[in-house]
Amino acid sequence: MSIREIPTTPFPDQKPGTAGLRKKVATVAQPHYLENFVEAVFRNVPELRGGTLVVGGDGRHHNDVAVQTIIAMAIAHGVTRIIVGRNGWLSTPAASHLVRHLDADGGFVLTASHNPAGVEGDFGIKFNIRGGGQAPQSLTDAIHRTTLSLDRYRIADLAPLDIGTTGERDVEGCRVAVIDGVSDYADLMTTLFDFDAVRDWLRSGHRMVFDAMHAITGPYARRILIEQLGAPESAVRNATPLPDFNGGHPDPNLIHAGALVDEMMGNGAPDLAAASDGDGDRNMILGPGLFLSPGDSLAMLAAHLDRLPGYRDGLRGVARSMPTSRALDVVAAERGLPCHETPTGWKYFCNLLDAGRLTLCGEESFGTSSSHVREKDGLWAALAWMNVLAVTGRSLPELARAHWAHYGRHYYQRHDYEGLPEATADRITDALRDRVASLPGCEFAGLRVTAADDFAYTDPVDGSRAEHQGLRVVFGDAARIVLRKSGTGTGDATLRLYLERYRRDVIDDAACLDAVAEIAETITGLRAESGRAQPDVVT
Ligand code: G1P
Ligand code: ZN
Repeated sequence: MSIREIPTTPFPDQKPGTAGLRKKVATVAQPHYLENFVEAVFRNVPELRGGTLVVGGDGRHHNDVAVQTIIAMAIAHGVTRIIVGRNGWLSTPAASHLVRHLDADGGFVLTASHNPAGVEGDFGIKFNIRGGGQAPQSLTDAIHRTTLSLDRYRIADLAPLDIGTTGERDVEGCRVAVIDGVSDYADLMTTLFDFDAVRDWLRSGHRMVFDAMHAITGPYARRILIEQLGAPESAVRNATPLPDFNGGHPDPNLIHAGALVDEMMGNGAPDLAAASDGDGDRNMILGPGLFLSPGDSLAMLAAHLDRLPGYRDGLRGVARSMPTSRALDVVAAERGLPCHETPTGWKYFCNLLDAGRLTLCGEESFGTSSSHVREKDGLWAALAWMNVLAVTGRSLPELARAHWAHYGRHYYQRHDYEGLPEATADRITDALRDRVASLPGCEFAGLRVTAADDFAYTDPVDGSRAEHQGLRVVFGDAARIVLRKSGTGTGDATLRLYLERYRRDVIDDAACLDAVAEIAETITGLRAESGRAQPDVVT
């Protein structure tokens, strides 16, 4: 075999965002683009020489090509063991688990999450470090710096390997194992949940449906729900991963999983429905006639999780990203649990998880998970909810109403303004940033601002600091408004406006958010300044 050193020139745009590097397929597929980024990772993670690497992705267009490139570059960089999911497929949580379980030195996860796929779609690459967590900011910054001065990369001259069949082979001194990417993950789930109780729940006539949206969770959901838990074939929908996700937008929310939502709002709805996204880390939870908002799902899981086998010792602590609803805080306060508020992005939970300070964490963007992996986990959330329904013997709407009656209810919405010119988005956020310090004490429609700032976070474990993580205007416990710019887009800017209103005694008043939306417009001028009459997506 020959190792080649290929001359290259830097690409100026390889700065990772909220969750890795995301670009259009056409960008990633141009000569040297992926190679440069991968080279920068190898140069900054020297443990990979002589170490173990996990590789897999969500099966989107270009996944197969990228997997072969990474294998050839890994061999050229002296990796001695490579674990690849069959077909190059691994869900994000399954990849995180494999890195942990195999004590690997890192993993490449190829995904642009819920962004559309296909030739015209998006591609993405994340690097997960030893322990399974997403690369921390210090590492992504170092990788980015390296990309800016690269003049060569190393790659082995290899014919593409057969990754469609499981098995191990020796490739130039490197052990390459193609594994069934589902088994280890499915085994992990059996240690966390009471499969017997869930099987009985299904056998006694309860129904659950899971929509894999033609993305990566299909094989995982089939194995666990149908083969292991005995659900009927019809329980898993859109179960075959397709390179273009069937032309869809696999984002499990009220818009993109609209058909499932309609079904759950109609007569004869199943007892539980869930959907996941492109790479399997997001989840949406629905009951008959009920959309359970991610913030409520997180808070309710915090209240029930210790009834499930993997969590019987109790929760060590909980965390939410800053814009996520404060419903979690109320449960944590009553239960005496430490509750952390972190910036948007799963990577900020990882230090707390590694330090044993957290058992459960989540984000408003349909992300929930526990200390079992270092990523959010869509199927885990669906299984957790099936298990909670099975052990409580109550329906999801019953549990939700009981929860709100006890803790009060946090009404919540996220308004996304997409496709904005970068300059417009910056003008709006800059204007609010300039104003926040003057807002405390001001009153809007009867709500008094108690605090307002540009959110900054100091990691309690390693002292690292993240600044400019979203502008927040807090009205005591009663309400909150947050504005931030998305860090996952591949084109124009997206502004996200997060609205929250807490009602202690009223649990059927969705309209109470309207007033908060109007206050937000008064304070941010978002609609006026962007020239938009309304948001593109409300979740
Ligand atoms: C979005 C979500 C964030 C999530 C990320 C990756 O990031 O808001 O919670 O961690 O996707 O799935 P954003 O586009 O807002 O930066
Ligand atoms: Zn995702």
